Amino acid sequence: MAVRVEDRIFYLETKNTMYQMKADEHGVLLHLWYGRKTENDMEYLLSYPDVGFAGNIYEAEDCRTYSLNTLPLEYGTAGVGDHRIPAVSVTHADGSTALDLRYQEYKICKGKYSIPELPAVYAPEEEAETLEIILKDTATDIRVILKYGIMENLDVITRSAVIVNDGGKPVTINRAHSLSMDMPYGSWEWVHFHGRHTMERQVERASLLHGVQESGSTRGMSSHQQNPSVLLCEENCTETSGFCMGAVLMYSGGFQTQIELDQLNQTRIVMGIHPDTFQWVLDSKESFYTPEAVLSCSCEGMEKLSLQFHKVIRENVCRGKYKMAERPVLINNWEATYFDFDEEKIFNIAQKASELGVDMMVLDDGWFGKRDNDSTGLGDWFVNEEKLKGGLGKLVERINGLGMKFGLWFEPEMISEDSELYKVHPDWAVRIPGRSPMRGRFQLVLDMTRKEVRDYLFQAISRILDSANVEYIKWDMNRSISDWYSMDLSSGRQGEMPHRYVLGLYELLERLMTAYPDVLFEGCSGGGGRFDAGMLYYCPQIWCSDDTDAYERTKIQYGTSFFYPISAVGSHVSAVPNHQTGRITPLSARAVTAMAGSFGYELDLNNLSEEEKTEVAEQIVRFKQYGPLIHNGRYYRLSNPMKDKFGIWSFVSEDKKQVLVQGMIFRTEPNMLRYPVRLRGLDPAKKYQLKDTEDVYTGQALMSGGIFLPQAWGDYVPVELYLTEV
Ligand code: DGJ
Repeated sequence: MAVRVEDRIFYLETKNTMYQMKADEHGVLLHLWYGRKTENDMEYLLSYPDVGFAGNIYEAEDCRTYSLNTLPLEYGTAGVGDHRIPAVSVTHADGSTALDLRYQEYKICKGKYSIPELPAVYAPEEEAETLEIILKDTATDIRVILKYGIMENLDVITRSAVIVNDGGKPVTINRAHSLSMDMPYGSWEWVHFHGRHTMERQVERASLLHGVQESGSTRGMSSHQQNPSVLLCEENCTETSGFCMGAVLMYSGGFQTQIELDQLNQTRIVMGIHPDTFQWVLDSKESFYTPEAVLSCSCEGMEKLSLQFHKVIRENVCRGKYKMAERPVLINNWEATYFDFDEEKIFNIAQKASELGVDMMVLDDGWFGKRDNDSTGLGDWFVNEEKLKGGLGKLVERINGLGMKFGLWFEPEMISEDSELYKVHPDWAVRIPGRSPMRGRFQLVLDMTRKEVRDYLFQAISRILDSANVEYIKWDMNRSISDWYSMDLSSGRQGEMPHRYVLGLYELLERLMTAYPDVLFEGCSGGGGRFDAGMLYYCPQIWCSDDTDAYERTKIQYGTSFFYPISAVGSHVSAVPNHQTGRITPLSARAVTAMAGSFGYELDLNNLSEEEKTEVAEQIVRFKQYGPLIHNGRYYRLSNPMKDKFGIWSFVSEDKKQVLVQGMIFRTEPNMLRYPVRLRGLDPAKKYQLKDTEDVYTGQALMSGGIFLPQAWGDYVPVELYLTEV
């Protein structure tokens, strides 16, 4: 049993970790522990200090030391004397905002709960358990059900909350976080992933300051600027040692992660939908479900934490035919042609690519409507026959005739004012009556909360999928959302729109996935602007960044690797000088960087020299050989490209018989020393031979002495060392 309850203490056990809570004598649900597995009940860590200006609940009578403002709470509320960041806050029908949640009962059941209309971790019934703790407000009929999914073998605990209105009048929810946890123990640093378009998920680690620190998005998408993932670690935590815990939110809309270091040096973390773009009117007898937060922790540093997240996201979040399957090596025409193509150009790119071993041709933006630049055509999901003479079917047949699959780009959530769709349905675009809407990349956003809009998109996309053998969809989304307003919502409910938009998006994706189970979906939002576990439930891979510069990618992919599995990372070799940075890197270095993902190309291979074409063909052979190890193996960050002279990572097979070290030495130096890099995750007793050499090392030597990187000559020198057990 993963869950045990004794004396109102809840013990949630996984293989190596333990989570503890207690419903105390006042029915207040206290957080006792999340960390290393322990036999102890951790209640002894509670201290009841008499702190000035920390109010006391009425039932505590003369006791000045019992305060909601100082106790570690499992799900803090507003308005009842806890002045730290609340997990939930509501406005009752009488305008008051207090919510005093007290313990009522609990339920334990086999299997992992699911969440209506939202993505959630799934598992076979025998591999998970669910705990529900039911809390109720002391003065109203609001109940909160805290849900915990315990995945014992994965060392993962999931959390979400359900807010139920059992009363007779509507209540407005102003904030409803998925995760809230107080840690009176530990001294923490936080790691978060910030950035911008073409520079996503840069790693930043900082000590906590007293007060609230935050990362989040109010853009209607998880965003390039911050990622819905966070890591808290002890000061001495490294890749391989020390304690850390991490959380990802399975949500693709605006989110908020807040961390508060309080007056007593206690830490509270909350994570969930961003309250600045959220309000929900909860009618009588209705329930509101928060998205899910996925938690894990490690006593052996961040590497282990990452491996745990990689496993749960790859195996228990991603779905569909391609979840564990080898992904096709693809070629995408975006950087090769942008909008300037016709069917011959696309066919020529495909033909050369197929000769060199590429599996799939992806036709990007510009194939539909009158889409000759980024100001027109979105919404018109019918083929532009001026560009693709003879239609899509003919082109796809020709490409299939090369032995290649075919994939297609869509940006379903958007509409151009210069489009046929806009002429007929200008009201489908999101805008506030009486205001000019904000444009982003010239486009407006479709109101995904409306069923007729989703029905149109389903039919339009289905028509294309039914008309030709399309085996892949790139689902793009190229602007932040503002001007929240839906004609389908009454004025009092406009605050619901951002969340309803995400629910609408998920519904449409689910419908398409179900209708077209063989289609591989790749998520995208101007690169990695919506790289989150919510989208990974529908798309097993996401275009990681619009920056295809191999050097920058080492940093972007490094940051992405803290939570997201390698198979999820769409990554391509592009032309030089690079279109985002002007940098020139060797083809070989571009390839090893792109191989740390779902691999592909994004250039016209016809423009390469004969020598380079041969190199591409060899790269594809290598990726086909190493792909299963890259996607199924364990991933190790062997350097920190944010500060080291090189970006090096490795993949080790589960049986520890194969090791692939890849990466790049950034800049050469005169008389450059040869740097040894210590490998990790090997069997110390095994002997490994380096490919194409007679060199044999023990696993122990490779992990303690390391292996030399090649002598660098020139900049951006690729590294690829393949070792197998002998
Ligand atoms: C943004 C994507 O990230 C690119 O790869 C490309 O698909 C463009 N959109 C097309 O408009």
